[in-house]
Amino acid sequence: MEKFRKALSMVPPKVVLAYSGGLDTSIAIPWLKEKKGFDVVSVTVDVGQPVDLARVRAKAEASGAVAAYVADARREFAEEFIAPALRANALYEGVYPLSTALARPLIGRHLVAVARREGATHVAHGCTGKGNDQVRFELATTSLAPELGVIAPTREWKMTREEEIVYAQQHGIPVEATRASPYSTDENLWGRSVECGILEDPAVEPPEEAYGWTTSPQAAPDVPVYLRLNFEEGLPIALDGAPLPLHELIHHLNRLAGAHGVGRIDHLESRVVGIKSREVYECPAATVLLRAHQALEALVLPRDLLDFKRTVEQRYAQLVYDGLWFAPLRTALDAFVNATQERVSGEVTVKLFKGSATVTGRRSPSALYQHALATYSSGDQFRQEMSEGFIYIWGLPARTWTAIGARAESTSPRTVPDRG
Ligand code: ARG
Repeated sequence: MEKFRKALSMVPPKVVLAYSGGLDTSIAIPWLKEKKGFDVVSVTVDVGQPVDLARVRAKAEASGAVAAYVADARREFAEEFIAPALRANALYEGVYPLSTALARPLIGRHLVAVARREGATHVAHGCTGKGNDQVRFELATTSLAPELGVIAPTREWKMTREEEIVYAQQHGIPVEATRASPYSTDENLWGRSVECGILEDPAVEPPEEAYGWTTSPQAAPDVPVYLRLNFEEGLPIALDGAPLPLHELIHHLNRLAGAHGVGRIDHLESRVVGIKSREVYECPAATVLLRAHQALEALVLPRDLLDFKRTVEQRYAQLVYDGLWFAPLRTALDAFVNATQERVSGEVTVKLFKGSATVTGRRSPSALYQHALATYSSGDQFRQEMSEGFIYIWGLPARTWTAIGARAESTSPRTVPDRG
């Protein structure tokens, strides 16, 4: 019995590492073993980034992982994370569709699932201590599984890039020599994020080479292209008449709109940790879909609802940015947003031309737009004479306010003047 217990205690604890296949997370595998005494289980999640899952798995194993999980989560990402964000028109600081931010809670959820399956005590990620992604990963995993500890090797090891390469070579980890790019990028279905290099000077225009998904608007085709998007309850279901699952529709649209230079965003961004940073995004599909969705909402939702929803949308975007996906506020806001989407069905036409995506047409069976009310031509059914009474009552508080002010200035008391 004593012997058995001793043998058991010698089994190393396990940590589940979010593994991209890059240099940082590759050397994290031997580092977690040597410095922390963990067996490392890697998890790689395909959210639409260019990734060869078989190669990544082989590299994780070659780097010393005791098990290497890979998951194709493109559909899950589109349906459970992008879809609610699209319905909520989520744009952080009014411009960023939250592509990187939305993928983090999904990856966190996969880490937790594998940790439970493997009996791991910790999870780990390759984020630095300066960004938002560490916040998002850790809030996701600790919200879902408070019992799991977190290790962030790159936040601890303080190696320069050169030292990292030496460490990799010492541990037999292949370093891809082609990584001459000065940029740090993150990609998924909903967009591509680019920072570092010359982009760190916010006064300088991003050079063309920083972009990877979009044609320069200048070089884009000289003839516009028109797209037809069909929505049902706030989500796109068909592109140019062809029904497609959301993740495929987004994939096609990224190509299509990217070729017309649509979706470039230059953002001077306020990070959660207090730093202002400059990030460039390429979000062709997100740009088109958010614009089309907003156009359809303008057609079918009443003014007060649109106005109130905008407040919710802003809060929604902020909580996604801040890593609070698995918090009750998000669930509650989703319930509100979902309740607004029942009639958001119809068709939107978008024109793509040299960097712009313009809504040129919209129709819906639930349109609040009524030609008989809006028209200035024959067939007008609006009772214009009713407006006089409406304005009389609507303006009453303002008239009273002005009259009382005038009375206070004069010596003789007067009643509030009124026509009528
Ligand atoms: N600033 C973006 C965010 O916080 C993207 C972060 C990742 N960007 C990158 N270039 N690696 O959502």
